[in-house]
Amino acid sequence: MTRQMIIGMHLGNGYGALAGAWRMPGVDPTSYTSFDAKVRQAQAAERGKLQFLFLPDGPSSVAADIEHEAPGFNLDVMMTLAAVARGTERIGMVATGSTTFNEPFNLARQFKALDIMSHGRAGWNAITSAGDDVAANYGVRIPSSADRYGRAHEVVQLVQALWGSWGKDAWVHDQASGQFARSAEVAPINLGGKYVASRGPLYIPPSEQGQPVIFHAGGASANALDLAGRYASAVIGAAFSIEDARAQRAAFRNAAERAGRDPDEIKFIAGLMTTIAGDKRAALDRRIILTERAFPQRAAYLQQMLGVRIDPARLDEPLSPQQLAAARPSPGDPRSGHALKIAREGWSLRDVLAHGVIDYQPVVAGPPIEVADHMQRWFEAEAADGFWVAPDVYHDGLDDFVDHVVPILQGRGLFHLDYAGTTLRDHLGAPAQYGLDHRIMR
Ligand SMILES: Cc1cc2nc3c(=O)[nH]c(=O)nc-3n(C[C@H](O)[C@H](O)[C@H](O)COP(=O)(O)O)c2cc1C
Repeated sequence: MTRQMIIGMHLGNGYGALAGAWRMPGVDPTSYTSFDAKVRQAQAAERGKLQFLFLPDGPSSVAADIEHEAPGFNLDVMMTLAAVARGTERIGMVATGSTTFNEPFNLARQFKALDIMSHGRAGWNAITSAGDDVAANYGVRIPSSADRYGRAHEVVQLVQALWGSWGKDAWVHDQASGQFARSAEVAPINLGGKYVASRGPLYIPPSEQGQPVIFHAGGASANALDLAGRYASAVIGAAFSIEDARAQRAAFRNAAERAGRDPDEIKFIAGLMTTIAGDKRAALDRRIILTERAFPQRAAYLQQMLGVRIDPARLDEPLSPQQLAAARPSPGDPRSGHALKIAREGWSLRDVLAHGVIDYQPVVAGPPIEVADHMQRWFEAEAADGFWVAPDVYHDGLDDFVDHVVPILQGRGLFHLDYAGTTLRDHLGAPAQYGLDHRIMR
């Protein structure tokens, strides 16, 4: 069988990935607190046969400008997924859970309960959290990388050990004999390390996929590589070019191999933000409406990226031939080369910004075929095993992706026509695992 891509959908604050989404025509401005809206969005992604939903989290509701913008995250990722689990049947659901600001027993219990509730569709994005704004909610400063990742290894191992502490076949629930469970197969783990400890057992039997799948989201820092290489079945990545993505994918695969795993067990999932419209002009105009508030600040940043003076009052004009000749992409920002390429195509500076050259993920703004072409190019260059897609506005951007991009990918044989299995492990092709992965234990 030919290799096919995995697609996940970013599920955030109820509106969409762009700051202006909450004000778009047709959008319910109270979607931030609507669990029904989240369920409808998940159902749309499931209609498109997407393998999973990805819910980022601080954990906190960070809002850059609460006066004008919605916070970026869900009210509570586990509450959202509890609602989604009851309103969908096949799509996987991956929530972010901090290894720094949670106790392993809490994580083990909540994620395994979600896995049971969803019939084996849960995934845990195990991240260490970053930023003092998050740490402040817990009354501390963000720990050093060594401490965050030291604790993360212990937390993931404890969580997996707790998941395995209720033996696979322990639950007999035999009404005739009166035996509920085989007590010898439900045993304490008695594990402790430098940072965390737990006795167990966790009184939750296996789900249809045994236990949740581990994800990791992050750049390819040495510590992140080591963590993901040992435990993650998929990495939610951020890469701005095919070359960068290929390098990151290779680094994560090597890390898995170093940990004693098959490199195909770790999937690199690249990010992609979409603005879909009938043609390029309409897509750029839509992005201008959605992001224009940030243009003065972004114009100042673009000036640094290209090394030329930009007058924020003259965004209607393209860079002059003299400016283009003098422009040099900044080595300090990997997006600069792409920004210069777009500027050289002769777009006005407003349109250059509307292309999303300063967004935190690659942006495709255009007709559905451009989105499909981008995904095919990256996939065939082995820059990614799949994509996590962040539509600009869920209200219509999600349907546009599902109804117009997915069929193109399916027609090209790049994406499955339907779910082959029922669990997240099935959707990812992740091997069975229950409890700890003994190959990687030191
Ligand atoms: C695509 C992507 C998504 C991320 N999602 C989250 C998230 O939801 N929550 C979080 O705390 N950190 C998230 N991170 C941050 C990483 O977990 C990590 O902290 C960051 O890349 C800094 O790396 P370091 O922890 O190795 O220093 C994300 C990173 C990337 C690249």
